[in-house]
Amino acid sequence: MRWIGQTNVLSIRPYRSEDRDGLFKIATDTAFFGEPIEIYLEDRRIFLDGFYAYYTDYEPEHSWVATANDEVVGFLTGCVDSARKDKIVNKHINPRILLRLLTGYYRVGPKARRYLWRMWKSRRKHLYPSVNLEEYPAHLHINVDKKWRGNGIGIRLMKVYLDQLTYLKVSGVHLGTSSENLAACQLYEKLGFQLIGEKPSIMWEGIVDHPVQSRAYAMKLTAYEYSPSLK
Ligand SMILES: CC(C)(COP(=O)(O)OP(=O)(O)OC[C@H]1O[C@@H](n2cnc3c(N)ncnc32)[C@H](O)[C@@H]1OP(=O)(O)O)[C@@H](O)C(=O)NCCC(=O)NCCS
Repeated sequence: MRWIGQTNVLSIRPYRSEDRDGLFKIATDTAFFGEPIEIYLEDRRIFLDGFYAYYTDYEPEHSWVATANDEVVGFLTGCVDSARKDKIVNKHINPRILLRLLTGYYRVGPKARRYLWRMWKSRRKHLYPSVNLEEYPAHLHINVDKKWRGNGIGIRLMKVYLDQLTYLKVSGVHLGTSSENLAACQLYEKLGFQLIGEKPSIMWEGIVDHPVQSRAYAMKLTAYEYSPSLK
């Protein structure tokens, strides 16, 4: 899929292994509600290992990138079976992160300590909205480089992935976001996602000066209109 955004040729294509660094850069440049991650973590690798290595290294066939003149400017990482992902993360990824924490591989300062503690507490106290994985087995993460937002990249990445899921006969898809990701929430609602849960988040206390809600959105793929016309 190719189109002109501003003066550049933009395209959407399946993720390739050589896109990994570009994808990881955007993931961390946008991890704080669209801004760089350094406000809450000293070492980008903790976040990349914890959140993104699964998609690039264990399920790359369901990720997509947007490029402008061959540079990655946006991405969508997908997973068609979230329960399987959880098993792989628990078996292969979490032990590696733990080992890296214990052996001093990561730079762990006060921000990382606060982040990891709050993540652990949020999971333990079920502070994320729950999702029925039998109804909505697939999920996704999407981010677009700040300079390239508003050019139709986000909607095209979403449509190509939703078309892929429909083609694969996946029954439903969900995603996690927050009340701070306003553009993202608009995008999901525009495509037919419904808000299925919302809970107060403790992750951003003292970092953001107002309460933030964790949100879960979901959509049955029977409710999605397959639209290969944009390709
Ligand atoms: C959310 C995001 C992926 C959208 O990508 P994008 O390429 O800018 O989006 P598009 O240009 O394709 O816009 C598609 C729709 O998204 C919504 N949208 C995009 N930017 C918006 C904004 N600034 N305000 C409100 N809605 C917005 C609109 O519904 C828009 O449709 P419209 O143009 O018909 O109004 C991008 O803004 C982003 O990466 N944000 C920061 C990171 C983030 O929040 N990621 C999601 C984490 S859950």
